[in-house]
Amino acid sequence: MKLFIDDANLEAIKEINEYYPVDGVTTNPSILAKAKRDPRETLKAIREIIGEDKIIFAQAVDLTYEGMLKDAHMIIDLLGKNTIVKIPSTPVGFKAMMALKKEGIPTCGTVVYTPMQAYLAAKAGASYVAPYVNRIDNMGYDGVEIVKKIQNILDNNGMECEVLAASFKNSQQVLELAEYGVGGATCSADVIKAFVKNLAIDGAVQDFVNDFEALTGKTAMSALGE
Ligand code: E4P
Repeated sequence: MKLFIDDANLEAIKEINEYYPVDGVTTNPSILAKAKRDPRETLKAIREIIGEDKIIFAQAVDLTYEGMLKDAHMIIDLLGKNTIVKIPSTPVGFKAMMALKKEGIPTCGTVVYTPMQAYLAAKAGASYVAPYVNRIDNMGYDGVEIVKKIQNILDNNGMECEVLAASFKNSQQVLELAEYGVGGATCSADVIKAFVKNLAIDGAVQDFVNDFEALTGKTAMSALGE
């Protein structure tokens, strides 16, 4: 399962990108709004932090077909290779996905609440589909189960499209999808950190150092000298 950070906070991205094995960064207009600066500057800064080999997702904001294409071209011009343009999974969005596919611009069908929406986005040529786990849970349905259903639809129809599960509020939701083998997940820095936020882990790591220090008076193997 690919793992992305769903954030536009540059400090958080720097930290997660340095210490955790993430595949890139996802954003949406609301996330960019939280950074309170020109979104183009934020996106460029994110690209600089993660480098050109990792993936960045940026969303087309215009809701018209022509506007989506213009936004998509601008995003690609701004961020270069390994950029995925998020397009809402609506009828206008499907039309844009089909056109962008023909141009060779990769898209992610976003704002996915139902398996049928995901199916249509994948069929329209989206490279990813992004179901919103926590928002689906909040509507009284089971977000994790819906993501599994979407993964099955993609697999059973041989569709060249990956799941990018999004909108997580806890690491258990992500773990269950990793166990199922979904294509990818994108989470806030806090949820990623929660994967290893565990006093048992911290205690065990420190115990090893304490025992070594009790034996040698040193806290590193290299400190013992040649
Ligand atoms: C990703 O595609 C979504 O934009 C994002 O994860 C939604 O998360 P939220 O429900 O926490 O806003």
